[in-house]
Amino acid sequence: MARRPRGVAIRPMRAADVPAVARIERAVFGREAWPTIAFTRLVRDFRRAGPARGRLWVATGGGAVVGYLGFELSALGGEADIINLAVAEGARRRGIGRRLLRTAEAYCARRGVPLLWLRARASNRRARRFYQRTGFRVVGRFRDYYEEPDEGAVLMAWGRYWRARP
Ligand SMILES: CC(C)(COP(=O)(O)OP(=O)(O)OC[C@H]1O[C@@H](n2cnc3c(N)ncnc32)[C@H](O)[C@@H]1OP(=O)(O)O)[C@@H](O)C(=O)NCCC(=O)NCCS
Repeated sequence: MARRPRGVAIRPMRAADVPAVARIERAVFGREAWPTIAFTRLVRDFRRAGPARGRLWVATGGGAVVGYLGFELSALGGEADIINLAVAEGARRRGIGRRLLRTAEAYCARRGVPLLWLRARASNRRARRFYQRTGFRVVGRFRDYYEEPDEGAVLMAWGRYWRARP
C-alpha cells in the first residue's frame, strides 16, 4: 500500500509557483535545467490550450513547492509524454514523486489516454528504479539521445501498451 505523505497536496501549477519550481529545477538538474521562461510559457500555454496540450502539477508541503510534474499530450490524446518530474532533495523518499505520478495517471485514466511514457538518462538509476517501482516498464532505448555527457535514453511506459516489448 503506497504511503500518503502527510501534509502534502497536489494541485495544478500556477504562474506564481514558477520561481520556486525553477529553483528546484536548477538545484536538481544543474546545467540541464529548464530556464524559468520555459515553465512560465508552459503554464500559460497549457492553460489557454483547447483541446488540452498538457498539464503541470506541483506538490506542496508546509506552504512551499516541494516537487512538480509536467506532461505533454499528443494532438489526438493517444499518449502523454512526461517532460519533467522532480522532487526537492530534502523531500524525497516520502512518496511525493509517486503521488505526482498517480495524479498524471488518474488524468490519463479519466481522459482515456492509454499511454503515459517518458525518457530517462540510461545512467539515472535512481529515476529508473523509481519508475519501475511505480509501475513503469522499459519498452525501448534511444541511442545518443542526451548530450554533455553523451548518453542514451531509456524509454519507459505505463498503461496498456507496456507489455509490448520492442
Ligand atoms: C526520481 C524522484 C522524482 C523520486 O521522487 P521521490 O518523491 O523521492 O519518490 P517516492 O518517495 O515517491 O518513491 C517511490 C518509490 O520509488 C523508489 N525509489 C525512489 N527513489 C529511489 C532511490 N533513490 N533509490 C532506489 N529506489 C528509489 C522506491 O521504491 C520508493 O518507495 P520506498 O521509498 O517506499 O522504497 C526524485 O528522486 C528526483 O527528483 N530525482 C531527480 C530528478 C529526476 O531524476 N527526475 C526524473 C527524470 S527522468
